[in-house]
Amino acid sequence: MSTRTDTPQAPADDASGTDPRQLFTPVVLGDLHLRNRVVMAPLTRTRAGEDGVPGDLLVEHYAQRASAGLIITEGTYPTREGRGYPGQPGIVTDEQAAGWRRVADAVHARGGLLVMQVMHAGRVAHPATTGTDRVVAPSAVVLEGEAHTP
Ligand SMILES: Cc1cc2nc3c(=O)[nH]c(=O)nc-3n(C[C@H](O)[C@H](O)[C@H](O)COP(=O)(O)O)c2cc1C
Repeated sequence: MSTRTDTPQAPADDASGTDPRQLFTPVVLGDLHLRNRVVMAPLTRTRAGEDGVPGDLLVEHYAQRASAGLIITEGTYPTREGRGYPGQPGIVTDEQAAGWRRVADAVHARGGLLVMQVMHAGRVAHPATTGTDRVVAPSAVVLEGEAHTP
């Protein structure tokens, strides 16, 4: 009779990292101790309000995915000029930071970890989305195409 365990263990001598059974084994990344090797890619949800504050929808969204070893948040703007999309959350104001605190607390309460992807939209930004009067980018090359504005 064989016994199935919920967390299959990779052979102790397999250091290649390619054995699929290792997916559900812990790993240490710097200061982060991941309980498994499933890492959620950053996915912009555009679910924050006009104020860029992550609210109940994002708390629920990230809490539902807390069983991943690590969540990388959606790209989050570090300055108003860096906002690329309507509904994108920011990490500029105290209210935004408090919203992210709620997200982090919900993920931590479920044993998960998350790191923030800080994302400046550069030339992808549009004054109608940022509410500022200039577009800041590494170069002066204009982006071709259309921007989605509020
Ligand atoms: C709806 C959507 C939103 C995304 N948002 C981000 C984002 O905020 N930051 C980022 O770096 N990548 C973003 N991505 C890219 C995903 O992280 C990427 O698709 C994922 O890592 C899988 O890689 P692949 O598309 O090359 O297979 C997004 C992709 C999609 C489909």
